[in-house]
Amino acid sequence: MSFLTPGSRLGRFEISTVLGQGAMGVVYLANDPQIGRPVAIKTVRPGMDRDETAIEIEERLRKEARLAGRLQHPNIVTIYDVGRDGDDYFIAMEYVEGKSLTRYLVAPDDLPLSAKIAIVRQTAEALAHAHERGVLHRDIKPGNILIARDGRVKVTDFGIGRFTNATTSDLTRTGQMIGSPPTCRRSRCAGRSWTDGPTSSRWASCSTSS
Ligand SMILES: Nc1ncnc2c1ncn2[C@@H]1O[C@H](COP(=O)(O)OP(=O)(O)O)[C@@H](O)[C@H]1O
Ligand SMILES: [Mg+2]
Repeated sequence: MSFLTPGSRLGRFEISTVLGQGAMGVVYLANDPQIGRPVAIKTVRPGMDRDETAIEIEERLRKEARLAGRLQHPNIVTIYDVGRDGDDYFIAMEYVEGKSLTRYLVAPDDLPLSAKIAIVRQTAEALAHAHERGVLHRDIKPGNILIARDGRVKVTDFGIGRFTNATTSDLTRTGQMIGSPPTCRRSRCAGRSWTDGPTSSRWASCSTSS
């Protein structure tokens, strides 16, 4: 995996530093000089670590942007833009100054019980809003739950989500395992049933918080 260097540009955005790395790409802190605000930029470059074609990557990022773009909620990261610069495909979104919930798994005592309950409640509210608008996240796990400095939850990464009215998922094949194993429903991990609905996200948020 190669990284963009600080000071380089992606579209109009000026890269500052790496914020995180997920299964799908690298997320950078950048500056939007036109608006004068910090943004988080998720990038994927074809041919680095994955065998997806450029067209598949572009469609996947566009779909992620469309899914999250349908949502408007204080506990869901807002999408600003989706685009391409040379070989790099990217999504520009609200920058959350804070840490992902993964950070607290290694030191759970850093959070008082009231803060833990607040995280579960806000995550559930974010998912309820998404479900009301016909969007399934399908990958609720600590790495996709960001905790802002003021304690506010921001759910991110709709990269493998889907619309509830979609027929067969367009970017996953029938019977293909989706989501992250530790937070998948047991029946789904065992490949026994395919109940890919709101219950799956609720189950994942429960197993994430347990
Ligand atoms: N909007 C954001 N603001 C700040 N950090 C972020 C933001 N989005 C993602 N990150 C960081 O990048 C990591 C990976 O992001 P994610 O969207 O989950 O990528 P992937 O699809 O590759 O899993 C997160 O765990 C978090 O640390
Ligand atoms: Mg992720």
